[in-house]
Amino acid sequence: MSGDNQRFKDQVAVVTGAAEGIGRHLAERLAGEGARVVIIDRQAALLESCAAEIPGADWQVVDISDDTEVCAAFKAIMAECGRIDIVVNCAGIVGPNARKVTEVEVGEFDEVYAVNLRGSFLVTKYALQHMEERNYGRILLFASIAGKEGNAGMSAYSSTKAGVIGLVKSAGKDFSETGITVNAIAPAVIRTGMVEALDQWQVDYMTEKIPMKRCGTLDEVAALSCWIVSPEASFTTGAVFDLSGGRATY
Ligand SMILES: NC(=O)c1ccc[n+]([C@@H]2O[C@H](COP(=O)([O-])OP(=O)(O)OC[C@H]3O[C@@H](n4cnc5c(N)ncnc54)[C@H](O)[C@@H]3O)[C@@H](O)[C@H]2O)c1
Repeated sequence: MSGDNQRFKDQVAVVTGAAEGIGRHLAERLAGEGARVVIIDRQAALLESCAAEIPGADWQVVDISDDTEVCAAFKAIMAECGRIDIVVNCAGIVGPNARKVTEVEVGEFDEVYAVNLRGSFLVTKYALQHMEERNYGRILLFASIAGKEGNAGMSAYSSTKAGVIGLVKSAGKDFSETGITVNAIAPAVIRTGMVEALDQWQVDYMTEKIPMKRCGTLDEVAALSCWIVSPEASFTTGAVFDLSGGRATY
């Protein structure tokens, strides 16, 4: 989307997990509304081709679970752009699905934890350190309805997404007396590569629970996300926004 609405003009937006799926779509939308976008992912080739299609986009290959890499990436972005107004953390993995908790290997659980929760923590921590200097910022993390309700067959994913909800609630309060907000979105099913890779039993389980009887769209995710990271959204922090077609009951 581009055109008249330039609400992010002169702002710098960092989007992780932007080589595909929600992150990619959101990066395009933020750029279309005037932001200078820096996209991050661990898939180098896909990230580079994605950056080539977004006007003015910079890109960095980063594994968000790696402390050193995330710290260095934010330093490099500050050196290059001079400011970071928006950080959206879309990088995430599902890991084991359609499997009971007893069937999940410790190493598999650790891998999901490292990306979904440790990675969310690292991105939030280093983003905040730079935003604090200017007393302005919008951080948006991606949780999931699985983190609120717990999906059968997805114990590693559900528990790490519950952790993201706790992280947002805590970090939001830590910075509540500043111009920085920290929020999350908890989507139900959005058709991306992540969902395509799931076991069909798992996809049916999740989609049948949506009262609207359909999946969410990338445009619906982008519309809510862009409001949350806009200057307008100034009295909301530590919150988890629903995007579940009516599935969430709290
Ligand atoms: N699609 C859905 O239905 C859905 C539902 C609820 C929550 N979410 C969450 O939304 C976010 C985006 O999901 P999506 O559907 O776009 O997924 P996706 O799989 O399409 O894209 C995720 C991106 O994250 C990147 N990534 C994974 N691990 C990384 C790491 N360690 N470092 C850097 N990049 C890494 C991948 O390379 C990929 O480009 C995720 O956090 C996901 O858990 C998605």
